[in-house]
Parts: sequence; structure tokens; C-alpha cells
Amino acid sequence: MHPSSDRLDYRFDDRVAVQYDALRGHPPEVSPRIGEAIAGLAGSGARILEVGVGTGRIALPTVSAGGDVVGVDLSAEMLRALAGREQPNLALVRGDITRLPFCSNAFDAAVCVHVLHLVDSRTVLADLLRMVRPGGVIVLGRDWVDPASFAGALRNAFRQAVVDLAESIDFPTGARGLVQQLSELGGEPVYNGEEQVAVEWQTALSPRQVLDGIRSRDDAESWVLPDDLLTRVMSRLDAFAADHWSDLDSTHGVRRRFVYSLFRVPDNRPGG
Ligand SMILES: C[S@@+](CC[C@H](N)C(=O)[O-])C[C@H]1O[C@@H](n2cnc3c(N)ncnc32)[C@H](O)[C@@H]1O
Repeated sequence: MHPSSDRLDYRFDDRVAVQYDALRGHPPEVSPRIGEAIAGLAGSGARILEVGVGTGRIALPTVSAGGDVVGVDLSAEMLRALAGREQPNLALVRGDITRLPFCSNAFDAAVCVHVLHLVDSRTVLADLLRMVRPGGVIVLGRDWVDPASFAGALRNAFRQAVVDLAESIDFPTGARGLVQQLSELGGEPVYNGEEQVAVEWQTALSPRQVLDGIRSRDDAESWVLPDDLLTRVMSRLDAFAADHWSDLDSTHGVRRRFVYSLFRVPDNRPGG
């Protein structure tokens, strides 16, 4: 079950775009390290395609670290959040990443962060293998939250509630599934496809903030739930949280990371 592009335009509207950096933004000392990691993986002066560039959370520090980035996004509102923060080496294109117009070998690297759960990931990954030159890299990045933390416990309870309450549910393809898809399509996993840590940090989060993130569908997995199911799941999750934490607003330290899987585009890729 993947939302259609029409629904996306509704979801990544002004409300989301304005809140996005507040909810998902990296701390100021973390962003540059993510940019340096990505620019370093792509190579000096690399031409990098970021699909689903959003508000530039990843693209801006990548450009600052020396990358030359083309960012594509369907949502005018998300792109508008970048207005005034453009840089000479950042080109923005409004368009659908499942129908990209770029020629073969146009890029040295491609980057996908928190976007492939919203689209037919196999179609996009196959196209990235065509657009990135042989020897270039594809980076699948994501924000990681310690599964052993209270936030991880809430995530587990969320999943359990969905499994219990949904008649059938098709969770978006997770990080492991994407690694498998890209391997099957002919990408060469570096580090055996194991996720690498670009940067680790600690933030203080409260149970209420995590609950609100799930409720507002900021979370990739709650994104796919129909409204009525999400309401029932949230009522169970609110009860779980009330049972476990007497003060939902008190904050707890949570270990976080930006992690990535790295793929190289082979010389003999299919259709290459
Ligand atoms: C969760 S945000 C991630 C943004 C950015 N990659 C980040 O990590 O901050 C997902 C983005 O993907 C975009 N998106 C979703 N489906 C898309 C599509 N079919 N074509 C282009 N952009 C799309 C949305 O508009 C949104 O900006």
C-alpha cells in the first residue's frame, strides 16, 4: 500500500513543511558531519542527485561540504521551505522521482533519505542505477533511534498495536528490505550492505514528543495507516505510555545516529 502522488501533495503541505525541520531537524553540530560524510562518500566535487530533497535537511550540509547537488521533490511547499537558503551548487527540480528525466550516467552519486517508503522503491532504485555512472555510489541514509531506549519501546508497542488491530497491514519497506532490493537490482553493496554510522549524538526526548510524532505521521510507519486505524492504534499507545511513564513530558536521553548503506554502481549494470 503506497500513497499516491495526489495524497502526497496533501501530506507534504505547508503545515508539514513548516514543522518539518522542527520535528526532524538535526542539531546544528550534527548537520555538517552528515554533509561531510555524504560528500566524502560521493568524492571530491561529485555531482549528486538527492531524490525527495524536502527542505534540504541533507542537501544543504552536503553542498556546504563540497558536493554539487541536484535535489528533486514533488512538494512545492517543501521546496519553498528552502527559499532563501539556496546555494550556487544546489539545483532544485520539482518533479516525481518515479519519473526522473535525467540521462544515464548523469551523476556520480545518488542519495535517498526517508523517501523510499513513500514511493515504489524498486522503480526508483532501478532508475538510480541507470542515472549514476558506473563506479559511482548510491547512499541510502536514515535517522536511527536507539531501539533499546524508551522511544524504541514506544515504537515496538506501536508496531504490536498495528499488528493486533489491523486486518492486514503492509509496512513500508524498511532499511534491510531496501538493501535487498538494491542488491537484487545489481547494486554492489559495500561493507556487505551493513549500515555504517556517519554520526552519533544524544537528544532529550519526552514520551509525548514521540507519541506526537507518530500521531502526526511524521513517523514513516504511521504514514501508511488509514485515519481510523491510526486513531485506534494511538488510543492503545497512549494507554501504554500512561502505564509506563508517570510524566509524559519529562525528557530522557536517547542515543541517535545518522546511518547509511552504501552501494557501488557496477560497470556491467543491467541496461548500462
Ligand atoms: C519525509 S520527507 C524527507 C525529506 C528529506 N529527504 C529529509 O530526509 O529531510 C519525504 C520527501 O519526499 C518527497 N516525495 C515523496 N514522494 C515523492 C515523489 N514521488 N517524487 C518526489 N518527491 C517525493 C516529499 O514531498 C517529501 O519532501
